[in-house]
Amino acid sequence: MKKTDTADLWWKNAVVYCLDVETFLDWNNDGVGDFAGLAQRIDYLAELGVTCLWLMPFYPTPDRDDGYDITDFYGVDSRLGHHGDLVEVLRMAKDRGMRVIADLVVNHTSDQHPWFKASRSSVTSPYRDFYVWRKDLPTNQPETVFPGQESGVWELDEKTGEYYLHRFYRHQPDLNVENPAVREEIAKIMGFWLELGLSGFRVDAVPFFIEGDPGAVAGDEYGDPHDYLKSLRAFLGRRTGDGILLGEVNLPREEQLTYFGGEAFDELTMQFDFVAMQKFYLSLAREDAAPLAEALASRPRLGQPAQWANFLRNHDELTLDQLSDAERDEVFTAFAPDEDMRVFGRGIIRRLPTMLSGDPRRIRMAYSLLFSMPGTPVLFYGEEIGMGENRDISGREAVRSPMQWTPEPNGGFSNAKPRRLTAPVVDDGYAPRFVNVAEQRHEPGSLLSFIRTLIRTYRNSSEIGWGDFEVLDQPNRAVLAHVVSASEGRMVALHNFGPDPVSLELTIPDTAAGTRLVDLLTTGEVTLSDDGAGRFELGGYGYRWLRVIEPGSRRLY
Ligand code: NOJ
Repeated sequence: MKKTDTADLWWKNAVVYCLDVETFLDWNNDGVGDFAGLAQRIDYLAELGVTCLWLMPFYPTPDRDDGYDITDFYGVDSRLGHHGDLVEVLRMAKDRGMRVIADLVVNHTSDQHPWFKASRSSVTSPYRDFYVWRKDLPTNQPETVFPGQESGVWELDEKTGEYYLHRFYRHQPDLNVENPAVREEIAKIMGFWLELGLSGFRVDAVPFFIEGDPGAVAGDEYGDPHDYLKSLRAFLGRRTGDGILLGEVNLPREEQLTYFGGEAFDELTMQFDFVAMQKFYLSLAREDAAPLAEALASRPRLGQPAQWANFLRNHDELTLDQLSDAERDEVFTAFAPDEDMRVFGRGIIRRLPTMLSGDPRRIRMAYSLLFSMPGTPVLFYGEEIGMGENRDISGREAVRSPMQWTPEPNGGFSNAKPRRLTAPVVDDGYAPRFVNVAEQRHEPGSLLSFIRTLIRTYRNSSEIGWGDFEVLDQPNRAVLAHVVSASEGRMVALHNFGPDPVSLELTIPDTAAGTRLVDLLTTGEVTLSDDGAGRFELGGYGYRWLRVIEPGSRRLY
């Protein structure tokens, strides 16, 4: 299929940027970021090249899980503004050609949600079945997601003497998706935000969300959870035409395909590639490209509408749960040597630059890879300037410190007193006086300028998002050489995970005599021999993107 036949599949080469309104920019100086602040920075995001904003939860919340505990699915947290402010952001984004998606967190609610208050009030409440209740504590409990913070997934509710299910914190009771009334509510919630102008959702905790009651008897009326996911996607399609579901599914490869809807590709539009992300860190730690190459090669092949979302870091702990114990230890030793840099026995609470001791060569190589791996890249706010984390903020939330705009106090995030800020600003070698947007913005050699170049080049290289992918054979362990090919053309990317320069001979398959490989991130080119071979130099932790230019090609480079 030609790209032009499916030009409305905008997510195939989008640049997704995740932010929390609360920590982005505080325009009224009360210490909490707000929609008015975000509106001030839409042009910054457009200039960076972002094409799709992902808003973390902005709904009313007691804020015991940073907004992932919602009390009103239709509301806007009053600390951040109101619907009018949000709509203004949507309008401005649309004007710049930028889409907006938001977290859809419907696996659970806050225990302060009116539905749960009603549900727990009595066993005969009309809302009782909005949640999953058990008279007796189930004997074979699934493991909690938050070991050390929760001991199980069932909590006794004193009033009615029954247990409710909570896959996450005990203050986040799971909704009962087996109940048609709950499914109807979820559809209404989606419909509401889509009418306001969202282009889809990042769907929280998909496997838990659709599973229903983990102890339910097979063959009950709920049926196959995937049918439910299909119905949500169909609903989204009917309402929007081209809306997306970007799903959080941290599962092994075999299971991921089922969440795309198998060969039908009628469930999630995109899934984060947790497997490649984890193997990427193993490759970094080992200075060996093989783990990442294998992870990419093991991806199930996707039909045209489906897509992988690549990321190096997100708002949670950097989970390493899909590595073996020995592999996880390797990554811990390399990038989180102290116990307090880790959480839940499986993850790291640091951002990428601190893990890499600030080495600019490695940091740039990592981002060059992010934007050249087949799929759609997702950035977490602050990555573009190399922000560090603030370990004064506990656990996973260490990476959710305020965005650093200027070298001024509070990093230009807010003029409120530091003690009033929603989260403390980084205060070490990565503090705003060292790492900020204002100073990097006009500095051609800055990380921000580099990321902007990567984004521009990615957007000019549609084969990365659309194309087929192949790892090229070559003898150097430290090097990942891959080619992405689409009907528009081909691009070769080289990444060196090791500190030593390398010189490698590569053969690019199926090239006509006289084919050149032209550098896209710098000036330079290599003319291939008639049998498609060429010699390529790469610096320590070096990277190159090269457009395959066959004789007569009109492709820009
Ligand atoms: C996944 C989110 O990414 C995480 O931050 C949150 O705590 C859980 N889901 C529960 O909503």
